[in-house]
Amino acid sequence: MPRATLDKDPRDVAVMFDAVARRYDVTNDVLSLGQDRAWRRATLAALGAQRGETVLDLAAGTGTSSEPLADAGVHVVPCDLSTGMLGVGKRRRPDLPFVAGDALRLPFADAAFDAVTISFGLRNVPDPEAALAEMLRVTRPGGRLVVCEFSRPTFAPFRAVYTNYLMRALPPVARAVAKESDAYVYLAESIRAWPDQRELGLLLKDAGWVDVAYRNLSGGIVALHRGRRP
Ligand SMILES: C[S@@+](CC[C@H](N)C(=O)[O-])C[C@H]1O[C@@H](n2cnc3c(N)ncnc32)[C@H](O)[C@@H]1O
Repeated sequence: MPRATLDKDPRDVAVMFDAVARRYDVTNDVLSLGQDRAWRRATLAALGAQRGETVLDLAAGTGTSSEPLADAGVHVVPCDLSTGMLGVGKRRRPDLPFVAGDALRLPFADAAFDAVTISFGLRNVPDPEAALAEMLRVTRPGGRLVVCEFSRPTFAPFRAVYTNYLMRALPPVARAVAKESDAYVYLAESIRAWPDQRELGLLLKDAGWVDVAYRNLSGGIVALHRGRRP
């Protein structure tokens, strides 16, 4: 399988996710030591979506991040670039309206959504600021954004242990669980190269979001960034 380089050509990224789609969810659970479930609950709470609202779940993959929204009575639209991930999602949740689309050219009208969320997806997009501006375009004035993404652990000794885990332990464990280690070498490298909490907050502001704030989860392994369309 070709590994997406850090140039993040969307075609390479899509091929990479097509290849891991079948075992994506179980691999996630193992590699995050089950933490991903708590991260998803926190994302849902931060979004504060009400029953009947329409929410875009961008880079939704197999729909794992969309399911809690749908189950809370929200009209969630899962959108992703990888047809492999969408296919696995559609088989599992045929009731969800999966849409194929690129974060840099969203196939939706202006102001179509009450809120937009993206979990573990923004890091894979070649131009995150342009994607944040696209998300702003499809959000109604006053609507919300929540970005859930890997970030930078705040406690330096823990950060050192964690970076070691990412670079040394994660690829062989991923090979055992997912039979795909290349994608998880990319995962480790892309996490290391990603902006920290403050820098990502600035990207949101530069893209036009206001009331930008963030909160750390699991000591900063993950951060939730929030914003509002003026
Ligand atoms: C790590 S998965 C996250 C899936 C899901 N949100 C979750 O939390 O489990 C990242 C997803 O981002 C998608 N993706 C990457 N680049 C994209 C882009 N430019 N536009 C839309 N989706 C993209 C990939 O296809 C993949 O399904």
